[in-house]
Amino acid sequence: MTTVLFLAPGYPDEMPLFVRGLARAGAHVYGLSDVAAHELPEMTRRHLDGYLQSSLRDEAGTVEAVRRWVGRPGGPPSLDRVICLWEPGVILAAKLREALGVPGMGVEQARKFRDKDLMKQAVAQAGLRVPYHRRASTAQEVRDAVEAIGYPAIIKPIDGAGSMDTFRVDDAKELEQALARMEHVPEVNVEEFIDGEEFTYDTICANGKILYEHVGYYRPRPLIARQEEWISPQTMSLRDLDTPWVRDGVKLGHDVLQALEFDTGFTHMEWYRKSNGEVVFGEIGARPPGARTVDLMNFNGDIDLFAGYAEAELHGTFSQSQERKYYVANIFKRAQGQGRIRHIEGLDELRRRFGPAIVNVDLLPVGAPRRDWVLTLISDGYVTVRHPDKETLFAIADAVGTDLQLYAG
Ligand SMILES: Nc1ncnc2c1ncn2[C@@H]1O[C@H](COP(=O)(O)OP(=O)(O)OP(=O)(O)O)[C@@H](O)[C@H]1O
Ligand SMILES: [Mg+2]
Repeated sequence: MTTVLFLAPGYPDEMPLFVRGLARAGAHVYGLSDVAAHELPEMTRRHLDGYLQSSLRDEAGTVEAVRRWVGRPGGPPSLDRVICLWEPGVILAAKLREALGVPGMGVEQARKFRDKDLMKQAVAQAGLRVPYHRRASTAQEVRDAVEAIGYPAIIKPIDGAGSMDTFRVDDAKELEQALARMEHVPEVNVEEFIDGEEFTYDTICANGKILYEHVGYYRPRPLIARQEEWISPQTMSLRDLDTPWVRDGVKLGHDVLQALEFDTGFTHMEWYRKSNGEVVFGEIGARPPGARTVDLMNFNGDIDLFAGYAEAELHGTFSQSQERKYYVANIFKRAQGQGRIRHIEGLDELRRRFGPAIVNVDLLPVGAPRRDWVLTLISDGYVTVRHPDKETLFAIADAVGTDLQLYAG
């Protein structure tokens, strides 16, 4: 029986499902995170064999606390795997593996999945196309980097997530504005702005082999979706990966995983396709995509990747169907007005028009306070739709974007 240490088993939202997947696949799962055990989601608690509360930001302290915990009453007898599917904990997981002699990704390799400059260096070394890039720690270094790279440029935290503190700058004035708003960010990556469409390439791997792969598509580009509140951003799961639209991105994904020598687990890569067809690497994480994208992948093939991942992680195999049956989209909604949700309009009519194409509705109920749409892509909720035909799916997704409205006040 495999014993697993699982970092952050309660957050993000998908984590309880992964914990359950591992437990059902036969692992003893021990949890580690900042919160008290009673604050964990119920599904997580039910599937843990033990739990340690420790401040994950204090990495050295947490390594020591886990070291003392293993082999003691209440702790795991020993550890076979350390798993972290939450972006900020990937380095700590690697430190724990090294400190406890557990196989899997070490710190040096993990940094290539966290540090946006290191990852691009490693990918570029393999001869793959990345945006021109430079790291910078002072305002002057940023100015020098932009000078060298040219406009338009992107400035973003070296280890950011969710497009936070990410700016496109088109001229010297915008550069100074961005610098003023980024004073609290200690280190940034300055990049050539890539004009194109944005995709993901996601996998489950075991022992250096890709067992499952997936391509997602963002409508519109995340940076734009994050700037305009009226937009209902869409994330899509694609059905046909062997088209001129995505084929080269899949190939890039294969080459990137090989260049970074990824071994076992989930990966989530982002890539761009320019209008001339050139594909460019964006970034990669050693974790699943967030914002309910794993649900899209499940709806695409009528599979359960929370179980599929567990099988790959624990046994090195993937026995679920590889068939892609649908195009699937999540449409994220942002209410008009502030405060609490007062009224939801258009859902009944959409159900009448699209019936079984609407596979999930997860909107805030009337009376609930609005979420912060800048901090969470989920915003005030989402609708999931699927259809075997691409153009039909796009049309349904756009109808949900325009004809479903939430009002707050
Ligand atoms: N070099 C670039 N050229 C064009 N757009 C870029 C570039 N770098 C970042 N962006 C835009 O900013 C967004 C956020 O950047 P990036 O994906 O690197 O950061 P992130 O905060 O990790 O994002 P997330 O967590 O949302 O995936 C991208 O999705 C893209 O829209
Ligand atoms: Mg990104």
